[in-house]
Amino acid sequence: MSQFPTGFATPASIVDALKAEAGDSPKARASFARGRCVRGTYVPSGRAEEITRSLSFTRPSRVLARFSVGGGNPKVADADKLVLRGFSFRLGAVDQRSDILTQSAPVHYARTLDQMLAFLKARTPGPNGGPDLENVRAFSVANPETLHQASYIAAHPPRGSFAGTTYWGVHSFPATNSRGETRFIKFKVVPVGGNVTLTEEEARMKPADFLHDDLENRIRAGDIRFSVMALLDRPGDPTMDVTIRWPNEDRCEEVRLGTIVITGIEPNEACDAIMFDPANLTEGIGHPPDEIFAARHAACTISFAKRR
Ligand code: HEM
Repeated sequence: MSQFPTGFATPASIVDALKAEAGDSPKARASFARGRCVRGTYVPSGRAEEITRSLSFTRPSRVLARFSVGGGNPKVADADKLVLRGFSFRLGAVDQRSDILTQSAPVHYARTLDQMLAFLKARTPGPNGGPDLENVRAFSVANPETLHQASYIAAHPPRGSFAGTTYWGVHSFPATNSRGETRFIKFKVVPVGGNVTLTEEEARMKPADFLHDDLENRIRAGDIRFSVMALLDRPGDPTMDVTIRWPNEDRCEEVRLGTIVITGIEPNEACDAIMFDPANLTEGIGHPPDEIFAARHAACTISFAKRR
């Protein structure tokens, strides 16, 4: 393990490593660099207050949102099977806003910040233009949990539409309801029309912009709906390790907090001018307790400053 850095990762070093791994694109987000800004509305369900008293989730509001393709390369092809899809949204009235950032896999690729830095450094291109594959292999053997996310992606068919993808908030968020009771939830954002999948062969034939074109076509033809689900914890569910799911997570109790309806395309400048901030959560949803979440606000702030 001595060839890998330990004990000194900071949000700034993570941002530098995210950018270096993706080829250092100036003025691009360090992560989920390519995407499309959209707008819509949020309508709470009748059960939202059973789970959270957050005014972001219990009141109707406008939504600003962004669909994206993972990684720090703003020119990545939409069909790239190895990267995630992202969906960030801001809901709630002024002073009651929350930003929820979700991705197309239920786990993150690192349990600690040091492990995240080492993961990225192992994959940073060297003088020959690509990562040292022997180094990647050695790191993966020593850190098997860093492959959980890639294994999840590999086990699921490529997605054919941003509108037909399920997205996860990954962390365990403490949610306090209208009776003052607190429990952990996970956010899962489910396309009302179901998942849209491609075969590997179909994905290979798709043009570079196909997800973005599909999004625009669907919005022109009507609206796009997602159910915002809260997965409810059970005693003993692990809340500190973002590389693992809760046991039987796919079968745990779920409550629909509300529906997001995407109704229009926004100029990308509207999303580029702000930062979807994972720490921006209105009372009733608290900060997840894990160390990875704790670094996200600072990392996003550094990336935001670099791209402005
Ligand atoms: C663990 C689950 C995570 C999820 C679901 C997630 C999701 C996302 C998404 C969807 C975006 C795009 C935001 C947008 O549309 O503007 C984003 C951006 C970003 N994320 Fe993450 N992320 C995660 C973890 C992390 C971690 C651990 C770090 C670093 C410590 C990080 C650093 C960043 C940075 C620097 C940006 C760019 C921010 C900007 O320039 O506005 N993320 N993330």
